[in-house]
Amino acid sequence: MRYAPPKGTYDILPSAPGRDAVQNSALWQWLEASFREICRQYGYAEIRTPIFESHDLIHRSVGEGTDIVAKETFDFVTKGNDALTLRPEGTAGVMRAYVSNRLYTERPVSKLYYIGPNFRYERPQKGRYRQHHQAGAELLGASGPEADAEVIALACGFYARLGLTDLKVKLNTVGTPESRVEYVKALRAWAEPLLPQMSGENNRRFAQNALRMLDSKEPQDIALLVTAPSLSDYLDEASQAHFTAVKSYLTTMGLPYDEDPRLVRGFDYYTHTVFEIQSGVLGDKALGGGGRYNGLIEAVGGPATPGIGFGLGLERVLLALEETGVAFPKTSGLAAFLCPLGEAARVACVSLLARLRSEGVACDMDYTGRRMKVMLEQADQNQARFAVILGDDELAQGVATVRDMLTKAQETVPLENLSKALV
Ligand code: HAM
Repeated sequence: MRYAPPKGTYDILPSAPGRDAVQNSALWQWLEASFREICRQYGYAEIRTPIFESHDLIHRSVGEGTDIVAKETFDFVTKGNDALTLRPEGTAGVMRAYVSNRLYTERPVSKLYYIGPNFRYERPQKGRYRQHHQAGAELLGASGPEADAEVIALACGFYARLGLTDLKVKLNTVGTPESRVEYVKALRAWAEPLLPQMSGENNRRFAQNALRMLDSKEPQDIALLVTAPSLSDYLDEASQAHFTAVKSYLTTMGLPYDEDPRLVRGFDYYTHTVFEIQSGVLGDKALGGGGRYNGLIEAVGGPATPGIGFGLGLERVLLALEETGVAFPKTSGLAAFLCPLGEAARVACVSLLARLRSEGVACDMDYTGRRMKVMLEQADQNQARFAVILGDDELAQGVATVRDMLTKAQETVPLENLSKALV
């Protein structure tokens, strides 16, 4: 019996020549370390929440009429009859944790970040998986536009730090739920006579979540949407002022953006600012996105608290870096790979290895007992700086032959000086 990874999933493996970036664990470590570092600089602390949450939390927070809940959640019932859902995104669980742990009693503003897998039952393709990973951040307790600008700056700063340039920030506001009710009425009245000309998907959205019609990628819908009423005409003054201030902060920070009045995003929890970050090399697949969700904490049982955040797709970052030909950092390998020639040398290498490791030297040894050539190949595969060759002659003299794997130069080094020679 042969098993393959489940559809839409993949394994992340040690680096090897020709391996896709998305499957290279060293690159994941680099991405994650970069995100942790920028979050630390911006004053965000890590939060880790379960990968499954109650069915109701996820379904209600994301929204029953959204594509994610309608088509993509992995829902299951436990042996104990609990209805659970694998998290399709990070925000709902973080809000639940914020409320369960009463984090709002600890400080007025909470800045949280997370990195982890999410699960959506999607049609798999390049850049779209059933298990994908996001790096996300949530800023809770601040309603002012400077919080919106900070969160967008953090996302952009992360990409810039990795060397990804040529990105577009698409920006819109979806106002308050109250102003949206009026807008959705107008939108539905406009759409109803046009339904026969619209795609099947937009007919479904008309019935379930009319606002999402604006986000259609179907050419027939896009052509019709030109005449749709505009959300911005329905915004109250405070929402408009908030949006104007967010834009002016972004300009002050030197962060360019494109206003996109049709950007509505796929979650019911958004209020006011929404944004998406795109890279030309990924087509219409967003690198990341986020927005404000001022009613969400209250909706999951906490005190009324404003919030804003984002989630960045990590597979997509790696794909974009690969597509744009950005150089990945060199992964650091071992300082030394020990190559014993013969049984006595093997025994000596076991204790030498232990001694070098206790002295802080990153090293490994051959366990195959094969030819010198094979041992040196292993040294290369492990990106070892030096091969340490030990045979009967060396043993008798208390020395080792140290071979520089780059220059191929060899020198004889007394065993007691070995760790000094391996730098
Ligand atoms: P989202 O736009 O659904 O937002 O996901 C964020 C990012 O995750 C996307 O832009 C994309 O890069 C990546 N992503 C989503 N689905 C997949 C998939 N199937 N395969 C590969 N990558 C994917 C959220 O999830 C919100 N929770 C963001 C947020 C946080 N809003 C406020 N706070």
